[in-house]
Amino acid sequence: KKTENQLLVIFGASGDLTARKLVPALYNLYVEGHLPDNFVVLGASRSNLTDNQFRDRIVYNSNYLKERLAKKSKEHVDNFAKLFFYQDLGDSYDSFYGKLAKRIADLDQKYRTDGNQIYYLSTPPQLYETIAARLAEQNLNLQFEGWRRLLIEKPFGTSLETAKDLNVGLQNYFEEPQIFRIDHYLGKETVQNLLVTRFANSIFEPLWNRNYVHHVEITNAESVGVEKRGGYYDKSGALRDMFQNHLLQIVSLVVMEPPIGDAPEEIRNEKVKALKSLRIMKDDKTLFDHTIRAQYMSSTIDGKKVNGYREEDGVDPDSKTETYAAIKFFVDNWRWRDVPFYVRTAKRMPTKVTEVVIHFKKPHHQIFQDEQMGEKANKLVIRIQPNEGILVKFGVKVPGQGFKVERANLDFYYSDLVETHVMEAYERLLLDAMQGDATLYARADEVEAAWEFVDPILQYWNTGKDVRMYGYSAGVWGPENADDLIEGVGFWRNPGDN
Ligand code: BG6
Repeated sequence: KKTENQLLVIFGASGDLTARKLVPALYNLYVEGHLPDNFVVLGASRSNLTDNQFRDRIVYNSNYLKERLAKKSKEHVDNFAKLFFYQDLGDSYDSFYGKLAKRIADLDQKYRTDGNQIYYLSTPPQLYETIAARLAEQNLNLQFEGWRRLLIEKPFGTSLETAKDLNVGLQNYFEEPQIFRIDHYLGKETVQNLLVTRFANSIFEPLWNRNYVHHVEITNAESVGVEKRGGYYDKSGALRDMFQNHLLQIVSLVVMEPPIGDAPEEIRNEKVKALKSLRIMKDDKTLFDHTIRAQYMSSTIDGKKVNGYREEDGVDPDSKTETYAAIKFFVDNWRWRDVPFYVRTAKRMPTKVTEVVIHFKKPHHQIFQDEQMGEKANKLVIRIQPNEGILVKFGVKVPGQGFKVERANLDFYYSDLVETHVMEAYERLLLDAMQGDATLYARADEVEAAWEFVDPILQYWNTGKDVRMYGYSAGVWGPENADDLIEGVGFWRNPGDN
């Protein structure tokens, strides 16, 4: 696909995300020749920097590019650095936007970027609406000559109500098709591969329903704690930080019906429909039975003491914020009626892993004796990260007399597809936005549908009766009580096992 000439404006350009993710993603696009012929980046933030100081910071002295640039010629590095410019936002937002508009116009003319602009808001979310409004005051939202797109990062609100307010707030100034909401999990190849596994094969989809699927299990685990983000995390928690967005995105791809085609809106329509079919938990009893939250407690990992959540910097010592969430739910539609879904996400687990497991039902009629069957049901494990790939577990005959069955693995690793450069999530998503492809971006109604499901859980956790906060030692698979949640169907799979 052709990428049109354009100018990328990054708000919050002196922040961590720009240096850590955005500039390295742009660098990869530069190396692979995906950047358009005429392309410049204008960084904007309140720090007082010149163009050269900005280039030093994000290119020449960048820890995130150091290794890759070390092997390159000066000319190669200079040419990349020359794509970057900087505009200081000053303290007063008002006087600044006139200057910003002028700078954009000048760069656009000088570098012939055809009036096409992306505004990437890598700022605290409280500023999203203000920035959109100020851009609009300068007519930077209007698409006369070129196009204009607004890119934002999660969180998209902290509740259904605030998410709606944000959507309305942005749509006052930008049309919905101009708004690109990043969910970096959608940039992961293995997440996109859910679509291909399901809809480019004829051997899985016929089984992908209540007639054959016994239950679905999704695990997202991180070994790290909250690191330096205690202040942010304590106001967020696992449900807002991971479940409402990344995990429900994965759920929607597992649950959705086949779209008519691969056009962005066709896929997004089906995802919204999937999210709307999640059964909303309304009464305290269901919420009590189907949700578990917990916090990690101090422990020793590899001989080193690690803090408990409440001892982390920026975290309230009496905090009621969860670092572990496990949710059981149902999907009310023709395909999934009565199939339980179990989804858990947490920090300070034994390892970092994300996987989707489709547990199939046993064969309808059993010919072989129970004791000969070993593990009785088939499983399809989709390893989102690490060891990206797909594992099918099926029964084979143990050679010898009689019919003893053992489970064998059909195991595919993405790493076996050598020579393919796997684009990093941000690289892929940025390129899509530059090309105007919104398939992998969350639409307003999608975000709201996810909040509809999550809101009652949060409300119950904040105010409900008998709500518990369990504890788990850092470095274990969460609280034992989470086993009760899945007890009806077996146990949690030990993620990473094959
Ligand atoms: C972010 C969360 O969205 O995703 C972080 O805010 C989390 O808390 C991160 O660590 C996980 O992303 P990944 O790609 O490392 O699984």
